[in-house]
Amino acid sequence: MHFFAVASLLPALALAAPVVRQADPCVPTSYTISNYVYTPGSSSGSGLDFHFQSHFSNSSIIEDPASAGTDCGASSSTATLPGENECKTGRNNLYFDIRSQQTYDYELIHTWKCNGKTWMSTTHHVVSSVTCSMDDESGTTACAAPTQDFAPENAREICSTPTCP
Ligand SMILES: *[C@@H]1O[C@H](CO)[C@@H](O)[C@H](O)[C@H]1NC(C)=O
Repeated sequence: MHFFAVASLLPALALAAPVVRQADPCVPTSYTISNYVYTPGSSSGSGLDFHFQSHFSNSSIIEDPASAGTDCGASSSTATLPGENECKTGRNNLYFDIRSQQTYDYELIHTWKCNGKTWMSTTHHVVSSVTCSMDDESGTTACAAPTQDFAPENAREICSTPTCP
């Protein structure tokens, strides 16, 4: 009696198990920003530098210079940084827009290849926990932020023909 009751429950338990959706291996698992330094500056100039790295679950199917890590930056001889900036991997692979300099608000535009197909993401990220301090002698302010991981947004295949760039 007990045995049959338990046995008849087993298929129900198997059905109730959570369905784990396999993440697409073409989509980065996360992005990391580290070594973030922002110098707000003044009329004498301003600057921004950070390290960016993409992560994938299966690197053997991915071509992406940013997966090894790359430097991104912007500089200006005025207080205002340029709105669109290339990272060291070049504009075709990775660049970022400054949405708001004052609130550390960025949009990262990242392109990579997965199984030979071109993919792209556009990710909005506000750098968090930024702390600024002023150097009394030079009078310049420097801001820094801890290493932070975040998920890519709007990741999609942008070209699917064999002749894609
Ligand atoms: C990574 O992708 C390759 C090519 O599709 C596949 O053969 C391999 O099993 C994958 N590795 C993992 C850990 O999923």
